[in-house]
Amino acid sequence: MKIPRICILASGAGTNAETIYHFFESKRTAQVVMVLSNNPDAPVLQRMQPHNVVAMPFNRLQFYESDQLITFLQEFGITHIVLAGFLWQVPPSLIQAFPGKIINIHPALLPKFGGKGMYGLKVHERVKAAGETETGITIHLVNERYDEGKIIFQAKCPVLPNDTPEQIAEKVQRLEHEHFAKEVEKWVNQSLDKPLETQTGIQIQG
Ligand code: GAR
Repeated sequence: MKIPRICILASGAGTNAETIYHFFESKRTAQVVMVLSNNPDAPVLQRMQPHNVVAMPFNRLQFYESDQLITFLQEFGITHIVLAGFLWQVPPSLIQAFPGKIINIHPALLPKFGGKGMYGLKVHERVKAAGETETGITIHLVNERYDEGKIIFQAKCPVLPNDTPEQIAEKVQRLEHEHFAKEVEKWVNQSLDKPLETQTGIQIQG
């Protein structure tokens, strides 16, 4: 049986990248082969150092203006790409090289509070300012537009009137760590050989 081979793209702390790495380290239903970052100083690269995984940065030229990154991923036999706190917009060339095989996690209930610049604490500040009574996580396929690809999973948590953005962030991060790896597992195993149209639709929990 073919084991899905995952590349994670991350720009920040990398807590989700590490959680996904450990999940598959024990289960072996897929393998996190590499974790790449657009930021050479991102803590995620340090965080992944002790693990059995390629962890390295790449630059704009390699990502947007050449096929270098795509060739690199293909040489390593990467089958799926997971964006876990990745800030750059994915170029059409990468989407075409991995059709239906790239997913992202967003720390809110899309289609609300998404789009360019909506990242990390800023998302939770907006959720609070809007007076939302609930928020959550969205896992979705990646297309050429920020946060607009097909939603495959959402989970919710309450927002209490006195919650600070930081407290909302903690609740959302708990949901991410609870669900993201499990949803990646379902997705990679159903999408390895099947075309996109036959894959199951959205599930909502919470
Ligand atoms: C996560 O909360 C993820 O949902 C968010 O960045 C954080 C990364 O945390 N992504 C976005 O905001 C994308 N628009 P991590 O580096 O600890 O995994």
